[in-house]
Amino acid sequence: MSALGRPGGAHESPSLKTITLAFTGASGLPFGLRLLDCLVAAQCRVYLVYSSAAQVVAKQECALSIPAQPREAERMFRERSGAAEGQIRVFAREDWNAPVASGSNPADAMVVCPCSMGTLGAIAHGLADNLIERAADVMLKERRPLVLVPRETPLSTIHLANMLALAQAGAVILPPSPGFYTHPSSIADLVDFVVARILDQLQVPHSLVPRWAGDRDGPPIGTSA
Ligand SMILES: Cc1cc2nc3c(=O)[nH]c(=O)nc-3n(C[C@H](O)[C@H](O)[C@H](O)COP(=O)(O)O)c2cc1C
Repeated sequence: MSALGRPGGAHESPSLKTITLAFTGASGLPFGLRLLDCLVAAQCRVYLVYSSAAQVVAKQECALSIPAQPREAERMFRERSGAAEGQIRVFAREDWNAPVASGSNPADAMVVCPCSMGTLGAIAHGLADNLIERAADVMLKERRPLVLVPRETPLSTIHLANMLALAQAGAVILPPSPGFYTHPSSIADLVDFVVARILDQLQVPHSLVPRWAGDRDGPPIGTSA
């Protein structure tokens, strides 16, 4: 597994960020879990929300039991990622008192990773029927960064039309499609490729994957350090 991104260097952002992170019931939770670890390592505050389908997927593909109670989930994720007390806050699916439910107190950015076609469609149509959908709706209406990491294959015209509508509304559609020009040698490398692109969108500093034609402060891909 590559080293976690650390704050510092040429890409350092001037202030600490608060990121809303949502896990939904698409396959690809390893991307979301790795993203959470990287956000914690980069000293971001994370508001975490997950769907009940995400709990099913977590068990299936990561052998991870995500507690239904936000307090218990908070403790579990804090211990797992080594977060500081209060760095990760978990909100229930219908906690309309959560800060992310209101345009008066939105996070700096939001990521839905992985994003199911169901949640994607609901966001595209402004349903706002649970906290994930509402928080995403708030990001769009407040013109704040919203990154969606949709996972399905193949895609129907309905999925594609929903993605187009979301892109036109200002969301970033970031499919978990790793490149192979970095010569990945493990699943962890493939995961990091995608997580690096998400962190770039959030302007959160990291050193997960070498940049094409060289890091601003490091050697190019394919050359030794
Ligand atoms: C193991 C497993 C994998 C799934 N993978 C996907 C997927 O890749 N994409 C998708 O859109 N739905 C997938 N689903 C179906 C969604 O979980 C289902 O549509 C659910 O209603 C989504 O709810 P949510 O958007 O509230 O999380 C999967 C379900 C399971 C149990």
